[in-house]
Amino acid sequence: MTAAPLVLEARSLHMTFHDRGRAGLLALDDMSLQVAAGEYLAIVGPSGCGKSTLLRLLAGLLRPISGEVLWRGEPLTEPRREIGFVFQRANLMPWRTVLGNIMLPLEIAGLAQADRTQRAHDLISLVNLEGFADAYPSQLSGGMQQRVTLARALVYEPSVLLLDEPFGALDALTRERMNAEMMRIWSLRRPAVVMVTHSISEAVFLADRVIVMSPRPGRVRAEFAIPLPRPRDIAVTTEPEFVALTRAVRAEIVD
Ligand SMILES: Nc1ncnc2c1ncn2[C@@H]1O[C@H](COP(=O)(O)OP(=O)(O)OP(=O)(O)O)[C@@H](O)[C@H]1O
Ligand SMILES: [Mg+2]
Repeated sequence: MTAAPLVLEARSLHMTFHDRGRAGLLALDDMSLQVAAGEYLAIVGPSGCGKSTLLRLLAGLLRPISGEVLWRGEPLTEPRREIGFVFQRANLMPWRTVLGNIMLPLEIAGLAQADRTQRAHDLISLVNLEGFADAYPSQLSGGMQQRVTLARALVYEPSVLLLDEPFGALDALTRERMNAEMMRIWSLRRPAVVMVTHSISEAVFLADRVIVMSPRPGRVRAEFAIPLPRPRDIAVTTEPEFVALTRAVRAEIVD
C-alpha cells in the first residue's frame, strides 16, 4: 500500500473546559491522530470521553489549550470548506425545504442561483432523496433527515468529512441501510472520513481503521486496522473475521 498524504493531523491535543469559575474539566489529554487522504477512520469510546470535542477541534471550531491540528501540514486556525461536518443532532432549518437546507451554504458563499440549484439537485440524487426536494424536515423520517445533513456536508466536495454519531438516533434497520448508503457515497466521492460512533459493528463494517479512546480525559487507547476486503456487504458482519475484530475492539473499551 502506498502511503496516502495526510489531510488532518492532531498533535498532542489538550482541551480543558472552564465552567463558571469551577475547576477546569480536562476533556482531552495528549490526543494525537493522523488522517490520510481518502481513508475511513472510526472513533469509539465511552460517553463523555471527548469524541465530540475532538471532532470540533479537527473542524477548527474549537482551539486546543495546547497541541495543534494540522490541515495538510499547516496549522488549522478556523473552519474550512474542505472539511465537512455532520453534527450529533440533525440541525436542519425547519422552515427551509430539503433543497433550501442543502443550498444554504452555497447561498452564504454567494454562488449563482442556477449553479447552486444544480449542485443541490445532484446531491439530492446522491443521497437518494429524489422527489423530496420540496419537502420540509418535519415531513421526513429520521433517516431521510440524516441524508439531508449528509448532502449538506458534501456541498463543497470536502476532502474530509467529520461525522459525529450520524446514525445514532436511528432504529437498527434504518441504521444498517444508512451504513450501506454511507459506504456507497464514500466510495463514489472518496473523502477522508472521521466518524464517531457508539456502534462497534458499525465502526468495523465501515472503517479502514478504528481508534478506541480512553475514558475522560480522552486519548488514544488502542487502534485496529480493519483488513476486511472491499466492497463490503452487510453479510460480512456474520463472518468469523468480522466477529473477532468487533470482539477485540469491544475488549479495549473501558467505561
Ligand atoms: N462547551 C463545553 N463546556 C463545558 N464542558 C464541556 C463542553 N463540551 C464538552 N464538555 C465536557 O467535556 C467532556 C467531553 O465531552 P464530549 O461531548 O466531547 O464527549 P463525547 O465523547 O462526545 O460524549 P458522547 O459519547 O456522550 O457524545 C464532557 O465531560 C463534557 O461535559
Ligand atoms: Mg459526543
